[in-house]
Amino acid sequence: MNRHHKGVAVVGAYGHTAAFVVAELRRRGFAPLLVGRDATRLRSAALAHPGTETHVASVADPASLDRALSLAAAVVNCAGPFADTAAPVIDAALRAGIPYLDVAAEQAVVLETFERYGRRAREAGVVVAPATAFYGGLGDLLACAAMGDWPDADDLTIAFALDSWLPTRGTRETVRRNAGRHLVFTGNRLVPPAGPPATGTWSFPPPLGVQEVTGLSTADQVTVSRHLRVPEIRVRMNRAPLRDLGDPATPPPTAADGSGRSAQTFVVDVVARRAGAERRATASGRDIYAVTAPLVGEAVERILDGRARRTGVATAGELFDAPDFLRALAPAHLTYTAPGEHRH
Ligand SMILES: NC(=O)c1ccc[n+]([C@@H]2O[C@H](COP(=O)([O-])OP(=O)(O)OC[C@H]3O[C@@H](n4cnc5c(N)ncnc54)[C@H](OP(=O)(O)O)[C@@H]3O)[C@@H](O)[C@H]2O)c1
Repeated sequence: MNRHHKGVAVVGAYGHTAAFVVAELRRRGFAPLLVGRDATRLRSAALAHPGTETHVASVADPASLDRALSLAAAVVNCAGPFADTAAPVIDAALRAGIPYLDVAAEQAVVLETFERYGRRAREAGVVVAPATAFYGGLGDLLACAAMGDWPDADDLTIAFALDSWLPTRGTRETVRRNAGRHLVFTGNRLVPPAGPPATGTWSFPPPLGVQEVTGLSTADQVTVSRHLRVPEIRVRMNRAPLRDLGDPATPPPTAADGSGRSAQTFVVDVVARRAGAERRATASGRDIYAVTAPLVGEAVERILDGRARRTGVATAGELFDAPDFLRALAPAHLTYTAPGEHRH
């Protein structure tokens, strides 16, 4: 089979996040192949990218996925909730023998990807990279950067501060499907939370400063715990975005400029602690959906040019040199503050 070495299939290609991913892949010189289940919506998405191929395919029809991937060098799955799409698209990627990446934020799905496909992907020599995205990916890269040469840590916190969260239809549906299925990572295990989410304060770097935060379950607890030796992994978020997400009246995001990015701002602040020392790595930027595109685009580029450190199911932090990866995205896509260490 003659694969186009720059062809990257994007599944769910007419979704909100996928639009950023398709544009980012083109910017990097790839030829996105738009894949989706609705021919009309696929055609209208392709209008924004003249010359782009489209493939109608359904996760319920493996042969249609095989045809869609037949010319691709890699596949990026942006069709969520991923509970419905991850397994069939990973199966198709393994049949095609090409790398698979997704932007899943669902803990259960990311966990299942590791458990169900770890051995098969390793034996096939194929990279399967779940949650290569704002949730699950950026925190994992920052966690690796913060840890640096530490072989382990006592605890690690990923603290998110968003000025707002205007959720897409896909986010709403994903949140709805995952209600009541959340896990926390404590005592070296992923377990259902013992009570209501933790509350407290977190001291973000200036200008944010001290904010009230709430415990949150994200794909980060899964990705970080797969490869970093830390018995306590906490995820926290400031209150305003959680209020937005919980309010059914909150509208979806809108573009604030020609790039399509919204005005939403984010800070992801990661602190690892070990034997009285503390190391911190921080990233900030605009639009959690848009920033997912350079994260996954950079990962595709590194996998296809041979910079992935391993095959099998792996997180972004496991696959790549995390500080180098983060520096490659700065300053165009995010601001990255490299680890600082102090005693606490
Ligand atoms: N980890 C992160 O940080 C991160 C970042 C961004 C997005 N995400 C996740 O990515 C997903 C998409 O988000 P979005 O903002 O792009 O939402 P969106 O704009 O609603 O797009 C969802 C896309 O997925 C497709 N899709 C959904 N279910 C499908 C199925 N069973 N078969 C085929 N296609 C299907 C939709 O097609 P139809 O319209 O035909 O259903 C649409 O193209 C969500 O699960 C979200 O949580 C995660």
